[in-house]
Amino acid sequence: MIRVTADKGAYDIHCKWGALADLAPHMRDAGLSGTAFVVTDSNVGPQFGERTLAALDAHGITAALFTIPAGEASKSLDTVREIYDWLLDHRAERSSAIISLGGGVVGDLTGFVASSYLRGVPFVQCPTSLLSMVDASIGGKVGVDHPRGKNLIGAFYPPRLVVQDTSLLASLPSRSLREGFAEAIKHGLIMDPPMLDILEHDAKRLLSVEPELTTELVARNAALKAKVVSEDEREGGLRMTLNYGHTIGHAIEAVTGYTSVLHGEAISVGMMAAAAIGERIGVTPPAIAERQRRLFELYGLPMTMPGLNTSAVMDATRIDKKVAGKKLRWVLLEDLGRPVIRDDVPDDVVADVLRTLFGG
Ligand SMILES: NC(=O)c1ccc[n+]([C@@H]2O[C@H](COP(=O)([O-])OP(=O)(O)OC[C@H]3O[C@@H](n4cnc5c(N)ncnc54)[C@H](O)[C@@H]3O)[C@@H](O)[C@H]2O)c1
Ligand SMILES: [Zn+2]
Repeated sequence: MIRVTADKGAYDIHCKWGALADLAPHMRDAGLSGTAFVVTDSNVGPQFGERTLAALDAHGITAALFTIPAGEASKSLDTVREIYDWLLDHRAERSSAIISLGGGVVGDLTGFVASSYLRGVPFVQCPTSLLSMVDASIGGKVGVDHPRGKNLIGAFYPPRLVVQDTSLLASLPSRSLREGFAEAIKHGLIMDPPMLDILEHDAKRLLSVEPELTTELVARNAALKAKVVSEDEREGGLRMTLNYGHTIGHAIEAVTGYTSVLHGEAISVGMMAAAAIGERIGVTPPAIAERQRRLFELYGLPMTMPGLNTSAVMDATRIDKKVAGKKLRWVLLEDLGRPVIRDDVPDDVVADVLRTLFGG
């Protein structure tokens, strides 16, 4: 069990192969016993929805299920309103728990509903994608997209409980699984270099979702993220280091419209950009880019994006939320496990590096 301490209260993360069967006992331990409202998506619901309701019912927790269409387009205020209507129709009360059963889209959306329905009801995260297990389900950032930009409407609203059933990863499409490893590789690079050895040595077994190894790796990553957000809930310097590769990564997502390139794919290119930028300004040793390159290759993650427009991506970095004042803050690596934040990277260095990654 992993514990996260947050301003609004501590919560536990249970990571286990088959953990969903224990959802109700975990809820009881967290002090949750009211009716449960489970939100899922059209890929996850048909496979795991009934099983989740049955696991709750077996312990006397009455539960209902709401299914949204899978995909980022559902992370919208329209869907929020539909879920509010459903909750009101079912007379959900302050003591009810709202449970997300899905990837980061369902987690962010459902968490936002939980943060605002009746001024906040207990929220339980059951992440089902690798990306949501190692990253999105931990840290309390919830929210939805606005037509003018991603994640513009949101809140800090920590869950009361996170239950990660790693057996669900066996049905995750390969591309989604691989993108999740981009965040795990990032964790290794910025704060757990020994984990990189495991990611290198056991790539094949991890990509085939071997139960024990996968569970260990997910738990290790969840613990890393939990430690960072416990020490720095609201993104000061420490939490900011989690943005390694994200300045360019977010810009690539914005320029490509948030659909064709997955988040993990955008940040693997972003990490290659950060390593090259760091090298160019004498911060990052050349061996780091090489280590990253090898890892991304093992997990089938992209390192270049031929055809992207350098100036469009540069413009998009400037409207990224993480700009403090006018200066862009870059997370660079001085060494493995030693991130630094720099706000003095010249634009022409960035442009040069991007041109090599985008091919002109
Ligand atoms: N809150 C945070 O701190 C945070 C951090 C990172 C990302 N995010 C958000 O997370 C979202 C991306 O998350 P994601 O990659 O999980 O996307 P997602 O929720 O769209 O899931 C990816 C795909 O896999 C499917 N899926 C999920 N679990 C499955 C399973 N076990 N079996 C079969 N299919 C399954 C989903 O239906 C979807 O099609 C973005 O909206 C991003 O903004 C939030
Ligand atoms: Zn990320």
